[in-house]
Amino acid sequence: MKKVIDDSFRWNKVANWYDALVGEEGSEFHRFVIFPNLIDLMGGKKEHDLEGKKVVDIACGQGVLCRLLASLGCETLGIDISPTLIRMAKKRSPGVTNPTYVTADCTKLLSNNGNLKFDLKENYYDYATIVLSIQNISPMAPLLKASNKLLKKGGSLIITMMHPCFRIPQYADWQFNDKEKRQERVIWKYLENTEIKIKQNPSENESAETIHYHRPLKSYINALANAGFMISKVDELITYKQEQKGVRSEMIMQAKKEFPMFLVIKATKVAD
Ligand SMILES: C[S@@+](CC[C@H](N)C(=O)[O-])C[C@H]1O[C@@H](n2cnc3c(N)ncnc32)[C@H](O)[C@@H]1O
Repeated sequence: MKKVIDDSFRWNKVANWYDALVGEEGSEFHRFVIFPNLIDLMGGKKEHDLEGKKVVDIACGQGVLCRLLASLGCETLGIDISPTLIRMAKKRSPGVTNPTYVTADCTKLLSNNGNLKFDLKENYYDYATIVLSIQNISPMAPLLKASNKLLKKGGSLIITMMHPCFRIPQYADWQFNDKEKRQERVIWKYLENTEIKIKQNPSENESAETIHYHRPLKSYINALANAGFMISKVDELITYKQEQKGVRSEMIMQAKKEFPMFLVIKATKVAD
């Protein structure tokens, strides 16, 4: 129970900062990298392709993806643990009936008898999305079980996260190998599940902080299989950012092309 209060409290504390970072339409990473990939994976190739699709965005934050999906004609529900972020989401779409929002801990969406709580609809959604959030949520098993319940058979859960093999906060970094003329990625902790505290403002001792739950790749694949999913597609997305011309810019650009920033897993519900 303590953990849940902490996670909600933590995100309430950074909500203003996060809302300013993401804004109405998303950070540059959302807009240039994550959302185009997500829409593509949902089959939104042409303008009206997603009209009428039902989508639940889990850990939706201030609703940035919910707004985009609603604008594309999807019936959209956002769920998040932070009442402050949900309030901000609602404030950004005043008076509309789509998207709708629920404030809830996504690890606690199922009752003891396995039914969905909060009037959530079972076997209803075509897609469930978890964007840049799964590494903020623990434990993962009840989150994936609830995602399964929300989805129709054949529906898909799409998870976009920091690449767990290369982008491990505080346990991975860049280094230059000038002799070989390359920039390398060094990782010094990977297999062990690790709780990493992320300060909103690293230079402040008393800065508000959130938790990044690092897990190795096998945890995600095995947890999805245990929750009734089959992985139907995996993507590894690189940054959109270009490097200014300089002595090492070629090395940096090469490394940016080789080491993906985000991992995307599309998993289809094949069993209850
Ligand atoms: C980095 S933010 C991402 C938000 C949004 N998906 C986006 O892309 O802007 C992580 C989100 O996870 C939410 N979160 C953390 N733990 C959660 C939990 N147990 N249940 C629901 N949401 C949770 C936080 O409140 C926060 O909104």
